[in-house]
Amino acid sequence: MGKIILQVDDLFKEFDGGVKAVDGLSFEVHDKEVVAIVGASGSGKSTVLRCINRLEQPTGGTIIFDGTDIMDPSVDLNSIRSEIGFVFQSFELFPHLKVLSNVSVALELVRGMSTEDATKQAKKILNELDLGDKFDFYPGQLSGGQKQRVAIARALSMDPKMILFDEPTSALDPELIGYVLDTIRQLADKGMTMIVVTHQIGFAADVADWAIYMTEGKIVEQGPADQVLKNPQEERTKQFLASTLEK
Ligand SMILES: Nc1ncnc2c1ncn2[C@@H]1O[C@H](COP(=O)(O)OP(=O)(O)OP(=O)(O)O)[C@@H](O)[C@H]1O
Ligand SMILES: [Mg+2]
Repeated sequence: MGKIILQVDDLFKEFDGGVKAVDGLSFEVHDKEVVAIVGASGSGKSTVLRCINRLEQPTGGTIIFDGTDIMDPSVDLNSIRSEIGFVFQSFELFPHLKVLSNVSVALELVRGMSTEDATKQAKKILNELDLGDKFDFYPGQLSGGQKQRVAIARALSMDPKMILFDEPTSALDPELIGYVLDTIRQLADKGMTMIVVTHQIGFAADVADWAIYMTEGKIVEQGPADQVLKNPQEERTKQFLASTLEK
């Protein structure tokens, strides 16, 4: 296993009004590792991911990413966010920009590439994700699965060291879920480091190396994905997995 690339220690996030969304959480991610986070709605999964690339300001704890303390007030958030890609459930594409521009605009703005170079690079990545015939489409003209793969292409275009996925298939029709999961699986095969929040337990057991089950902002159980998701030790994990099978 590679070196530790992300170290989360005793992370807390309390929102105004006193909700402890993340309540003392510690875990680490190694280079090239895929970590799955599972748990019921409201257990704090999204908040953990949002703290990692500082879309939320944690209330306590430390997060060290590739040697940088990302809670340090002087940290360069733009550089952190280009090194840690984020793929959302709701895609978050720019609706008024064509697919090609959705990917190339970040290369121009964040990486400072010329329009020509950014366009070339965006085309290459979109081609790799089988979206070569969609350059001139607007997001509204794509299926949910295609939109999500454009979002993945946009994250990849930054050449990130790690990608966070927050329920990337939850907004998709059932027949499109496999299409996006396959893309994530291919990234795993290529050695991309990823944290994937998902309700797709079978996928997580198959693709992830490590799994975390959390409830009420705390980790109940973490360990090798096969073990946590197929043969958990904790009663609460067993109950959660049983409840996902009933759905
Ligand atoms: N901006 C906010 N202000 C106040 N409370 C919030 C905010 N965002 C999240 N919370 C609360 O924090 C808790 C954890 O929310 P979070 O979105 O992290 O859960 P989740 O595990 O991602 O759930 P889901 O599976 O439904 O996406 C919830 O109780 C939620 O209501
Ligand atoms: Mg969530």
